[in-house]
Amino acid sequence: MTIKTSPSILACNFLELEKEIKKAEAAGSTMLHCDVMDGVYVPNMSFGFSIIGAINTITDLPLDVHMMTVVPQKYLAELKKAGADMVTVHCDIMPEFQLAETLREIRRLGMKAAVSVKPKEPAETVFPFVDLCDMILIMTVEPGFGGQKFMADMMPKVRAIRDYCNIHKPDMDIQVDGGIGEGTIAQAAEAGANVFVIGTASFGAPDMGEALRSMTKKAEDAFVK
Ligand code: DX5
Ligand code: ZN
Repeated sequence: MTIKTSPSILACNFLELEKEIKKAEAAGSTMLHCDVMDGVYVPNMSFGFSIIGAINTITDLPLDVHMMTVVPQKYLAELKKAGADMVTVHCDIMPEFQLAETLREIRRLGMKAAVSVKPKEPAETVFPFVDLCDMILIMTVEPGFGGQKFMADMMPKVRAIRDYCNIHKPDMDIQVDGGIGEGTIAQAAEAGANVFVIGTASFGAPDMGEALRSMTKKAEDAFVK
């Protein structure tokens, strides 16, 4: 499977947003991870449509929008307008039927759909949604902040979800988010992840291109489907 990187702009220097986006492009990022936080679903706030829309005007990189908000379903049309290519919604935020409907709506609007599980949620939580989504995100930190420590104990969950997808949807993208860097990416790839959100270890690296190349190589060498 293709190894993909999604640098999280939460870790960039917002005073130089345009330069940072260009840096991520030049570094060979596959896409850009945009963390939307509302201060209710998670204990932190970040940014919303205006920033995503502005970023969309200066890059062709796909925008991978991670919604850490209550009622994410309310904002789908707005996200599409802002230029989102993929929208990730958390499983614990609404009942199953509504989550299924939300994923259908994301696709109906022409975006890719993804579901996410927090550290305390078991692998089985996402199984009913496999046909309705293009990617599954397994959080490897509690959502809310960049720069946290990678939770290696999430790896069995990544493996359980990859094993399930190998049977039911072999081309599923499996993303991990939180604490991914030189020292952790191989474990996640070995467990079956192929899409890596990288915040601190990408924008914070002395040479972002070198960092992404090195981490991609480590993931390619370690990946087990
Ligand atoms: C955390 C966010 C992450 C964060 C990752 O809630 O979902 O995307 O930006 O940052 P690092 O890579 O620094 O852990
Ligand atoms: Zn994220």
